[in-house]
Amino acid sequence: MQTKNLIDGKWLETPANTPLVVTNPANDEIIAQVTSSGAPETKAAIDAAWQAGKDWAARTAADRAGFLASLARLMRRDIDRLAALMTMEQGKPLAESKGEITYAISFLDWAAEEGKRLYGDIIPASAPDKRILVLRQPVGVAAIITPWNFPAAMITRKLGPALAAGCTVVIKPSEETPLSALAIGELACEAGFPAGVVNIVTGNSSVIGEVLFDDDRVRKVSFTGSTEVGRLLMTQASKNLLRLSLELGGHAPFLVFDDADLDLAIPAAIASKFRNAGQTCICANRFYVQAGIYDAFNARFAEEIQKLKLGDGAQAGVDVGPLINDAAVDKVEAQIEDARSHGAKVLVGGKRKTLDGLADRFFEPTLLEGMTPEMLIATQETFGPVAPVTKFTEEQEAIDLANASEFGLAAYFFTRDGSRLMRVAEALEYGIIGANDGGPSTAQAPFGGVKHSGFGREGGRYVMDEYTEIKYISWQL
Ligand code: SIN
Repeated sequence: MQTKNLIDGKWLETPANTPLVVTNPANDEIIAQVTSSGAPETKAAIDAAWQAGKDWAARTAADRAGFLASLARLMRRDIDRLAALMTMEQGKPLAESKGEITYAISFLDWAAEEGKRLYGDIIPASAPDKRILVLRQPVGVAAIITPWNFPAAMITRKLGPALAAGCTVVIKPSEETPLSALAIGELACEAGFPAGVVNIVTGNSSVIGEVLFDDDRVRKVSFTGSTEVGRLLMTQASKNLLRLSLELGGHAPFLVFDDADLDLAIPAAIASKFRNAGQTCICANRFYVQAGIYDAFNARFAEEIQKLKLGDGAQAGVDVGPLINDAAVDKVEAQIEDARSHGAKVLVGGKRKTLDGLADRFFEPTLLEGMTPEMLIATQETFGPVAPVTKFTEEQEAIDLANASEFGLAAYFFTRDGSRLMRVAEALEYGIIGANDGGPSTAQAPFGGVKHSGFGREGGRYVMDEYTEIKYISWQL
C-alpha cells in the first residue's frame, strides 16, 4: 500500500510531517498513515508538472492516448485490489467499489479517444488574402481536487481529459480517502507516464490549496466537493484568474407521476437514493409522488427499503455501508429529528444502528412520509440513506416544488407520457435529468450542474473544453 506522495516521478515522504491517519469508517481500524505534504512539497509538485508540461503537450494525441490506455488496462488488472482498498477507506459495499473502479476506467478509455478529436476550425476571412485558423491547446498545469465519496472515479473523470488534452496535473485527494488516489498513482508509474506528468500530494486542504491557487503556473482547477468550499475556491481563483470547474452539492428531486411504471421507478429510487449510503451528489434527496399513485409507491418503496442489508461493506451481501464519519451521522439524525418535529412520520428505519463489533456509524435506510418545505431535509443536502416523500396533484406544482432549490445538479422523474416527458425535462432547472432513469452517470455524457451546484462539465466531448484554450491565427497570405 503506497503512503508516500508522487512528485516528479518519485515517491517522497515529507520530513517530520504529521501524517494523515486513514481509518476504516466501518470499524475504526487504522489502515495507514499517509505522508502529509506541505507548501514546499506542493510547490515541488507544481515545478515538476510545469517542467514536464512542455514535452507532454508536444506529444501526439495518439501517444498520450497510449499511456491512458495502459493505465486503464492496469486498473482493470487490479480491480479487485483497488475495490478492496476503496471499501476499506471509504466504506461502500465491495460490489459498489468494483462498479466505481469500472466507472473510473471508463473515463480514461473515453478521454484517450476524445483527445484524438480535439479538432480546430478554419473560418472564412473577410479579406481574400487572409485565412483564420482556430487551434485548441492545453491550458497547462491543472490541479485536481477530489472528494471522499468517489475516491477513484472523481480523479479519473478529471485526470483522463486533462492528460488527453496535453495538460500535466497535481492531484490533491480527500484527506479521508488518499489511498485509492495513491494506488492510481502507482499504476500511472507502472504505465510509464513520464516523470512530472502526474503528481499527487496528500495533506491539509487549506495548506495545499493556498499554494495551488497562489502559483501562476497552475492554470486550471477542477474541484468536486461542497458548495461552501466551492465558493471559497472561487474567491481564491480570482487572484490568478484561474479557470475553474466546480462540481458542487445537489438536492435532487425525484418526481413520480400517476402514469409512471413502478417497475422502473422503484428500483431507480432505491439505486438513486441508497447507493453509497446516500452519499452521492446526484442522490435523490426528496421524493414528490402524484396523489393517484402515492400509496402504491410508498408501499412498494417501503418493502424494498426493508430488504436493504446494512453492514460492513467488505461483507458479502451488504447493500448499505457506514457513513463516512460521525458528523455525517449527526447531520442525518438532526434532519430526521427536525422533520419529525414538523410532523413527518417515519415509515421505515429512522435511527442509528449498532452492529456487533462495528463503529457507531451506521444509519438505517429510512423512509419518511409527509415532507413539508420548512423541513431542513427539504432544502439541505442529506448525504445519508433517508428518503423523504410527499404528495402532489398537478404537473406544474411538481415542477415548481422540484425547482424550489438553490441547487441544480440532477433531477429525476417517471412518466409514461412522451409529451410530458419532454415538457418536464425542459422545465427542470438542473444540469442532469434522469427521465425514467435513476442512473444517468456515464463517461460520454456532460456531467455537471447549474445554480449553486457549480459549473463546468465533465465527461463526453464537452469536458475537453475545460482543459483547452482556444487560440486563433489570423494569417495574411
Ligand atoms: C458525485 O457524487 O458527484 C458523483 C456521482 C456520479 O458520478 O454518479
